[in-house]
This record gives sequence, C-alpha cells and structure tokens, in this order.
Amino acid sequence: MEVIIQSSQENASVLAAQMVARLIRSKPEAVLGLATGSTPLPFYRELIRMHREEALDFSAVTTFNLDEYVGLGPRHPASYYRFMQENLFEHINIRPELAFIPDGMASDVPASCLEYEARIRDAGGLDVQILGIGSDGHIGFNEPISSLASRTRIKTLTPRTRLDNARYFATPEEVPHHVITMGIGTIMEARQVLLMGFGANKADALAAAIEGPVSAQVPASVLQFHPRAHVLIDEAASGKLQRTEYYRHVFNNKPVWQQVS
Ligand code: PGA
Repeated sequence: MEVIIQSSQENASVLAAQMVARLIRSKPEAVLGLATGSTPLPFYRELIRMHREEALDFSAVTTFNLDEYVGLGPRHPASYYRFMQENLFEHINIRPELAFIPDGMASDVPASCLEYEARIRDAGGLDVQILGIGSDGHIGFNEPISSLASRTRIKTLTPRTRLDNARYFATPEEVPHHVITMGIGTIMEARQVLLMGFGANKADALAAAIEGPVSAQVPASVLQFHPRAHVLIDEAASGKLQRTEYYRHVFNNKPVWQQVS
C-alpha cells in the first residue's frame, strides 16, 4: 500500500487526476472504475479541466461505477446515475454507451448483478478503481462484515451509512435501505486502486484500514492485499496514523521513474 499525504483535498485530487490522466494517455481505451460521494468531486473537476484545457480524451474510455441505490431511477436527484451525469459525464467526451452504472431499477437484481460482472470481464477488467471510504470503513457499499471475496450484489446499508448519506435526500427516511454494489472481490481484481479519504471524520476508518489488521469488520483493510493500492489523503484524515513520517519519506524519495507529476 502506498500512502500519500497531501496538504489539502485539492492537492491530493490533482495528483489522483494526474495518475488517471497518465493511464488514459498511455492506454486510450482504459477501463475506469468510478465512485460517487463528496470525496471524488475535486478529482472529477480536475479531470474535466484536463479534458477542456489539455485535450484529455475520454472517447475510447469505458467506465463502471461502484454502486447505485435500489429503487432510484436515473432521473432521481440522489441517484448515482444522475450524480455521474452532472459531475463528470456531461462535461467530457465519454461515449454514453461505454459508461456503466448498476441498474437500481432492475426487476431481476441477481441477474443484473451477474450481467454487470460479465460486462466488466468483457471490457478486459478494470485498469484502475477509484474509491472513497465510509466512516465505517466501507468501500463501494460493502459494509462491515461483507465477504472479502464478494461480487456485485444487493447489500443492506448500515444505519450509520444511511445517516451519512441523508444530506443528499429531502428527508433521512428517504435514503434507501438497499443498494447494488460491486463486491470486494470485484474491486480487488482492478489492476490498480486509488482510494481517497479527506477530513477528520475519516481518520479512524483510514487508520484501521491502513495500519490495522485485515478484517471484514473494516472492508477497506483488504487493500493491504492489493499489489498496487494508492491511498491519497489530506492532513486531517491522516490524524490517527502511526507511521506518517515514513509515508512522507517514501513519497519525497520516490525514484524519478515512479513520480507522477
Ligand atoms: P463521501 O462517501 O465521499 O461522501 O464521504 C464516501 C463513501 O461512503 O464511500
């Protein structure tokens, strides 16, 4: 695991965007796993800026989003479909037919999950998966005690996650109980993982994920088994880590060929 501590969410997001831009420039048909929530917003803004000002080309890129609420259609203001349109897809030259999001309105949920997995496989697998982290340590919507080998499926949100996400809904009761999420096994097959976490309210989850034991109690801790997992965080989110000096030392002394910017 590589832990990169930056002075601000903005700086960490620019770095993450540079890593993804480098991938797209070397492999125009790259397959990206995308995330929603407040965490990736500055990262998406930077990708949009790179598209506009530096001709970053998404025309051959395929994307797969991590998750979607069950029961919310594309037009619902809190659906992740809508989130992705407004915060990224409408502003870049991605081909709509290559941007996949789990179907929250599927009549046969297990079948649609199997189809989602097959689509990822048929696209050649994920080159990079973008992740946020829940205050309870979830990745995607894989809540604590999710199987570390899980695949795309329906999950029930914890009361804490429903509360965390209530800000996107008119009332807290409207937050759906069920979601479709890529599994932890699905995420672990991405060739590279970029997890971002910002703010003091993520410090406990990040410390448990990075420096604690690998456990289904903290789903993000499974990334300790991933050969290419990068964790980009700000100062506030690093507050509970023990080895910050070493993480900074590693980043400041990277060989030139490993450097991003
Ligand atoms: P947030 O959510 O980016 O809105 O903090 C992260 C997550 O729940 O994975």
